[in-house]
Amino acid sequence: MAIIHTGSDADLSFLASVLRAGGLVAVPTETVYGLAANAFNADACRRIFEVKRRPAHDPMIVHAATRTAADSVAFFNTLADELVARFWPGPLTLVLRKRPLVPEVVTSGRPTVAVRVPAHPLFRTLLDRAGLPLAAPSANPFGYVSPTTAEHVQQSLGDVIDHILDGGPCAVGLESTILDATNPQDPVILRLGATPREDLERALGRPVRVHVRRPGDDSGPVEAPEGVSAAAGERAPGMLDQHYSPRTHLELRDHAFSEEELAAPVDGVARVCYRRPTGPTAPGVHWLTTDGDPAEAARRLFALMRELDGAGYAQLVFEPAPADGLGAAINDRLRRAAGRG
Ligand code: TXA
Ligand code: MG
Repeated sequence: MAIIHTGSDADLSFLASVLRAGGLVAVPTETVYGLAANAFNADACRRIFEVKRRPAHDPMIVHAATRTAADSVAFFNTLADELVARFWPGPLTLVLRKRPLVPEVVTSGRPTVAVRVPAHPLFRTLLDRAGLPLAAPSANPFGYVSPTTAEHVQQSLGDVIDHILDGGPCAVGLESTILDATNPQDPVILRLGATPREDLERALGRPVRVHVRRPGDDSGPVEAPEGVSAAAGERAPGMLDQHYSPRTHLELRDHAFSEEELAAPVDGVARVCYRRPTGPTAPGVHWLTTDGDPAEAARRLFALMRELDGAGYAQLVFEPAPADGLGAAINDRLRRAAGRG
């Protein structure tokens, strides 16, 4: 079992020293819990891949305490500066050209690095105390549902890590949006997430593309030699079709449940509505939000997937969220959990 630290002043100083010495610490962020190590320490970063059983071709996100600290890992451009001014600290990750000091293991050999300044106050204090940028993927075994509480981390990684910083349930509950900002003329969303596309478009005053994966984009390492843009190879590494999955078979419908369907029992199946139904419901009917608030739905999504995964159902069936704003990211995670990319 890992030790769960509550975030006292003494805890934070201790965990900062663990990180400086090359150790791993599971940390709270506003999106999901991460598993952090000194981003400049290749051995410590390699250990993250082992613990998560993560394939080496799936690069990690580097977290920095401030925009100035982020300068030590990436080269910023005008587009990045514009986005940083509006969205940091917060759940927007920028892919930029990397500084030579960032080890290859962090970026899976790419010439770019993914970086963000997170908004969680405890994590920011820890980053500041450690005085280091921290590489941190989500703190779950590769392919499983991301953790949104310290208990989730304890359940799935407690046997292989020593320290968890408990910052309470994650306020957002969905991973950051990842945006390729290497070409200031052509920002591209690589992963839908907690910063909605509409907000990015409003801030920039122009449309922002979402990268669509080609079949086979999943398959593995792509050599992106120094000087060659990652866009020339696989653009969104690690965006596997099967990801964020509970062990129980999960299905995503393409339309909402009807009142009649919800009133009739279905044996062994958990049915998850987006919004709490108004009519009578059979046992095994659940919902993501009571009053249709997308932020509540996002916050509850992964926790509910885990809860239902442990509840003995043979199948989980979700209806889609409304397609705009955070709903787009919720549907993206549901599609992947259903193995449909
Ligand atoms: O909210 C989040 O983003 C959370 C918290 C902990 O910050 N982190 C997270 O990390 O979701 P992870 O490892 O589960 O997802 C990181 C993804 C990779 O799978 C990959 O798709 C993308 O970030 N990525 C990282 N570096 C990249 C790069 N240089 N180019 C393109 N994509 C990159
Ligand atoms: Mg992840």
